[in-house]
Amino acid sequence: MRLALFILVGLLAACGSSVEPDGADIPPLKTDQVIVAHRGASGHAPEHTLAAYDLALEMGAEYIEQDVYSTADGVLVCLHDTTLDRTARGPAENCSGSVGSKTLAQLKTCDMGSWFNETHPDRARPEYVGQRIPTLEEVFQRYGREVNYYIEIKPGLDLTPPSVAQRLLDLMNRYGLREGSVQRRQVLVQSFIPTVLLEMRRLDPEIPLIQLMQPFTTNAATMALIAGYSFGIGPPVSDVSASLVQQAHGLGLAMHPYTVDEPMDLERIAGYCVDGLFTNFPDRYRAVLEANPYDCPAPIR
Ligand code: G3P
Ligand code: CA
Repeated sequence: MRLALFILVGLLAACGSSVEPDGADIPPLKTDQVIVAHRGASGHAPEHTLAAYDLALEMGAEYIEQDVYSTADGVLVCLHDTTLDRTARGPAENCSGSVGSKTLAQLKTCDMGSWFNETHPDRARPEYVGQRIPTLEEVFQRYGREVNYYIEIKPGLDLTPPSVAQRLLDLMNRYGLREGSVQRRQVLVQSFIPTVLLEMRRLDPEIPLIQLMQPFTTNAATMALIAGYSFGIGPPVSDVSASLVQQAHGLGLAMHPYTVDEPMDLERIAGYCVDGLFTNFPDRYRAVLEANPYDCPAPIR
């Protein structure tokens, strides 16, 4: 009997250790800003691949970013560029030209990792070759409700209803992410296009939105307008200063600048008391936040 109990306890302990989440032993942050892995850990792995998202989470990113387009047959896929040419390799009829003109079956023939190995031989890995364009649904299936998503709706060719915003919302509902989004910002929806965000707001007024901003547009009047519908703003890092952060916070807006990669820049921008930022190197930003107890108000989350 005692032997059986001993074995049972041993088995339970083994089960417990096998489900320990990746990154559980990462030290805590001294400054609780939000680490957004821009296109995944795209400084280390090919952008918008499962390899880049996996690595971002291992490095302790709080959010993984997806840029999304609709395919010609109406599927939401994760890719940054409007066209395939920079990051896709494969049959030209499938893997060059506009992403919105291809079906999902065509896109799934493209290798999304070889370009990275060619461009960054110092960071190349054999397993990046053959990485595929993920659909947003595949991303939700892989990571479920365990992680946070920061999803940008890109301007696309597909204007036939339902809209990309509607399809995104449908997917969030299907995968149980809508409540987490509303209650604790598990999904943030971002766009450069105000009408896209206003449509999302019309469809579901509680989904938190981030208005992305182009350089030289971060004036007080524009930010006051944005505060009427958005949880926060994503300004280009070139526009960001401590006083701009204070202005945004005065309007109740969270601020997540894009895209900061160099350690000195990460330290400087974090020191402005932003609420988080987009980086291709979540490990570097994490190291800055683990080391520095910036004297900032609690971030807007
Ligand atoms: O979404 C924030 C940042 O990603 C915007 O720039 O061009 O990398 O999507 P882009
Ligand atoms: Ca983006």
